[in-house]
Amino acid sequence: MTKPSLLIARAALAALACLFFASTAAAGEGEGMEAANTHIDNISSLQSGARLYFNYCSGCHSLKYMRYSRIAEDLKLSDDEVLKNFAFTGAKIGEMAMSNMPEADAEKFFGKAPPDLSLEARAKGPDWIYNYLKSFYIDSTRPSGWNNTVFPNVSMPNVLWELQGVQHADYAPAKPGEDAHVEKLELASKGTLSPTQYDDAVRDLTTFLQYVGEPAALKRESMGIWVVLYLAFFTFLAYLLKHEFWKDVH
Ligand code: HEC
Repeated sequence: MTKPSLLIARAALAALACLFFASTAAAGEGEGMEAANTHIDNISSLQSGARLYFNYCSGCHSLKYMRYSRIAEDLKLSDDEVLKNFAFTGAKIGEMAMSNMPEADAEKFFGKAPPDLSLEARAKGPDWIYNYLKSFYIDSTRPSGWNNTVFPNVSMPNVLWELQGVQHADYAPAKPGEDAHVEKLELASKGTLSPTQYDDAVRDLTTFLQYVGEPAALKRESMGIWVVLYLAFFTFLAYLLKHEFWKDVH
């Protein structure tokens, strides 16, 4: 006969294992890329990512599913802080974080309209975004003067070059019938951030875009710990009950 407490302990263990595997499975995207190692529940990383996003990205890109008021609430900022530091377009707190750039102009400037980034982290995964933002290099054959090893012939310029510095490409010798391909990127001139500081900045930006892609994940992660405590508590109750029952049997 299986004791009820054993059954419950097993169920609790299984639930714990599920939680564990669900979180590691979500982290394992992006073959052959550096892991972004984002922590979406890290509020200071989210705040710094939002600051970078609104200073360097929101001129061209929109977040059409994201309201400023939601950012204020989730990132623990006041409405005034969000409006003053993020809403450069003169938007109101209840409005979506839209770019001011008319799509037709954007297409004229860049050859491609900058896509909305609301769901970018879901479409490409955080590792992709992290590696993309680290992989720009100078390329005089491109109209923008920039190219990217993660997104070859991209029409976005490296808007973070002042922070990162300027990378240039080392090409592997071309094999017959093939174009020379980029072997590795080297920092040709330094930026205002060190390489590790730049990695942190890009990680913060990626964390912010990951949050934007699924704002509810923030609440879910903080709920996880309560689920585990709840299970632990009920296992304990079951154990006490079992003691009560078996006392009578003996
Ligand atoms: C000067 C305008 C401009 C700015 C500023 C800018 N981008 Fe872009 N971005 C573009 C354009 C144009 C594309 C489309 C590239 C293409 O399809 O070739 C793009 C594409 C992207 C993509 C790839 C989308 C996809 O899956 O096709 C990502 C991710 C991205 N940008 C992130 C950022 C981030 C993060 C910032 C801020 C650090 C930023 N962008 C700032 C113009 C801009």
